[in-house]
Amino acid sequence: MSASDRGELLRAPLFHTPRNPFLVDRALECHWDGGLLIRDGRVAAAGDFGTTRTANPEATVVDLRGGFLLPGLIDTHTHFPQLRVLGGLGRSLLDWLEACALPEEARMSGEAYAGETARAFVHGLVSHGTTTALVFGAHFAAATAALFEAGRASGLRIASGLVMSDRRLRPELHQTPESAYRDSSDLIRCFHGRGRLLYAVTPRFAFSASEAMLEVCQTLRREHAGLRFQTHINENPQEIADVAKLFPWATDYLAVYERFGLGGRGAVMAHNVHPTEAEIGRLAASGTAVSHCPCSNAALGSGIFALQRHVKAGVRVALGTDVGGGTGFGMLKEALQAYLLQRVVSEGPKLNAAQLLYLATRAGAEALGLEEDIGDFQSGKAADIVYIRPPAKTPLAAVLERTETPEQALAAIFTLAGAECIQQVRVEGSVVYE
Ligand code: GUN
Ligand code: ZN
Repeated sequence: MSASDRGELLRAPLFHTPRNPFLVDRALECHWDGGLLIRDGRVAAAGDFGTTRTANPEATVVDLRGGFLLPGLIDTHTHFPQLRVLGGLGRSLLDWLEACALPEEARMSGEAYAGETARAFVHGLVSHGTTTALVFGAHFAAATAALFEAGRASGLRIASGLVMSDRRLRPELHQTPESAYRDSSDLIRCFHGRGRLLYAVTPRFAFSASEAMLEVCQTLRREHAGLRFQTHINENPQEIADVAKLFPWATDYLAVYERFGLGGRGAVMAHNVHPTEAEIGRLAASGTAVSHCPCSNAALGSGIFALQRHVKAGVRVALGTDVGGGTGFGMLKEALQAYLLQRVVSEGPKLNAAQLLYLATRAGAEALGLEEDIGDFQSGKAADIVYIRPPAKTPLAAVLERTETPEQALAAIFTLAGAECIQQVRVEGSVVYE
């Protein structure tokens, strides 16, 4: 029997949400003295250490007590070319795009610069415990390819695509529908479905895409099976008013995308801070996911997301960091910010630790149509794992000495764990960061 057949049994408290805690009670599964058995890159068992050990005496035990095992974090909205504009506070969306984001995105025409940025961006993901991300590429094909290459080298799961726009940004960032079609088709052939990479058709937003460009998006989705889709929607009142003027035939923002078939399972629309009830109903009916980016929504003053309305209507909601409109790569922080903002809404939900974990893990897998493979520790899933262990003398280490229940420990992790606590990250059982 090879070492891989015998398996590795990780011993530490483990948490996961194989069920949706917004729909069912007791969705959080926790094993305080946990055992996570990995065999051939897959979860072979997740349970109490003693029971798992007895059933698998041949497995190699790795004692990780002192830390915690969570499913790899899943970021459903982020922009690789915006790494260096993090921290541009004090502006609203359209002003921020023009002053901060777009000038930096134009620099991605330089292949060496784009490559360096892509590698640093991917390091930002993994060093914060993110194992899967849906990422806006660049407006340039070579820079988008650089992101895929950096993703491949890192071992992470990356879905991304060429950012498509043909108006209202700045001339260097505009493509023609024909060139966008050609470049996207080439990138799909090179990267889609290769290893852990997926291609996502990525019109920036209706504000910067003509009908001809949106038609190209539709054509690409028809021509290639399994593509994902990502864009922005209903983020800022001025943006929404401009989109209404650009598409006078559309009853609302979502209707623009719907006209071109751009929704449904595997489609992720970011923000949706100012939706109508009708849009929420149609997002639920079509299975389109919304990426909730609470740090970005606060930093750009976009508004407070109506989480309760989305959840009640049955819209799939996951979390996104929205680097660089957001405030960094930390998905734990993003979940905490979701909690904090809902907390200050009158009648807002008090999110519990199970809901935060679900939003940061399994909900992302569902948004991306990957829930059969990742998002929790059910047997047979890929062993995508983040091992969180607070360094000695940190506030989190001190708090964890006092916590009395697993839920308290998990809440403390969301409140206090930063990148310094991410000790190891695995994808399909292999260590990709330590
Ligand atoms: N809408 C269109 N582009 C962007 C972007 O880069 N960031 C955010 N937050 N919203 C957008
Ligand atoms: Zn964004």
